[in-house]
Amino acid sequence: MRILVTGSSGLLGQYLMRRLGERNVILGIDRNPRSFPFRGKWEQCDLRDSQQLCKIMRKFDPQVVIHTAAWVDVDGCQKHPEKAKENNETLTQLVVNASPKKAKIIYISTEQVFPGKKPYAKESDPTRPLNVYGRTKLAGEKVVQKSGRRHLIIRTNFFGWSSGRKKTFGEWLIQSLREERPICLFTDFYFTPIYAGLMPDQIEILLKKDAQGIVHIGGKDRVSKYEFGKRLAQLSGLSISGVKAARMGSVDALAIRPKDISLNSCKAQAIMRRPSFSLTYSLKKFLREEKNFRQSGSQKTRTTKDHFKREDKKKKTKTSCNSPKK
Ligand SMILES: NC(=O)c1ccc[n+]([C@@H]2O[C@H](COP(=O)([O-])OP(=O)(O)OC[C@H]3O[C@@H](n4cnc5c(N)ncnc54)[C@H](OP(=O)(O)O)[C@@H]3O)[C@@H](O)[C@H]2O)c1
Repeated sequence: MRILVTGSSGLLGQYLMRRLGERNVILGIDRNPRSFPFRGKWEQCDLRDSQQLCKIMRKFDPQVVIHTAAWVDVDGCQKHPEKAKENNETLTQLVVNASPKKAKIIYISTEQVFPGKKPYAKESDPTRPLNVYGRTKLAGEKVVQKSGRRHLIIRTNFFGWSSGRKKTFGEWLIQSLREERPICLFTDFYFTPIYAGLMPDQIEILLKKDAQGIVHIGGKDRVSKYEFGKRLAQLSGLSISGVKAARMGSVDALAIRPKDISLNSCKAQAIMRRPSFSLTYSLKKFLREEKNFRQSGSQKTRTTKDHFKREDKKKKTKTSCNSPKK
């Protein structure tokens, strides 16, 4: 298959490039000139430049377009709703318009389209986003649905290693545990996380089965952020003494977050004929694969690592809550 991935140096994008690039002809698009520790070719392009985007699409002629690029900073979106609309809704329209008519569009969406009032949201449950990020991602879903193109919308929540440019929740957590830095994790925020390294194979199976519409892909276990941190500490033999249990309401945040963003992934499991992955399986794979990212990252991201170090030094004495972007 000829697969084009937008946001290819992002958290999910780089896993897609690595894994799907093993068996397919793959092309990534991202706007950042640095940090591409994966296989496959890529083009540097800001997706808002529709002329350049159309040119790339015409030349590559993808059969599948996986649109992961978005603005995922929840508080940032709340502060700058116009920018959020441009990056999450308008960008999706530009990608759809530029894609070949016969190409299938895979749009990566979020559990934040739900109000988070009940566990294990199903695809058929009513959406009601509580914040700008969720609203603009939902608007992106509608763009894809109205386009009349063959499409698959995947709502998910994943964790993993970054390409070294922006620190992920998983990286922030393991680093804090290793350094015994004081952090707090929420006991009343529930999710069903999956290791991002497990996503590409699932997406490929869904493609082979020609799944259409909306599917949820999450992990099997619904846990709080605090429980997630405890399990990661246990599996990596680290102490959890620096981790304080906190409630969501105790922390100031610009955007309201839904309290329960756990997903029911039964529909995807039935299509794939596979059970979903347990949290222990996901976390073990996350820990095992660290060296792959550190090796590739160290070749080209010294400046970014230094940046992380500087950032961490500043924060060392403060108790920080939650991940850099979530
Ligand atoms: N992370 C999660 O747990 C999670 C949960 C639910 C849904 N999702 C969805 O999954 C998708 C991928 O998330 P992620 O965590 O992998 O995000 P990410 O790490 O921020 O990656 C997104 C990538 O897209 C790039 N990008 C954004 N705007 C662009 C533009 N105009 N032109 C070219 N590139 C652009 C970003 O570049 P910059 O870094 O320069 O912005 C970044 O490299 C998103 O659609 C998100 O809504 C993520």
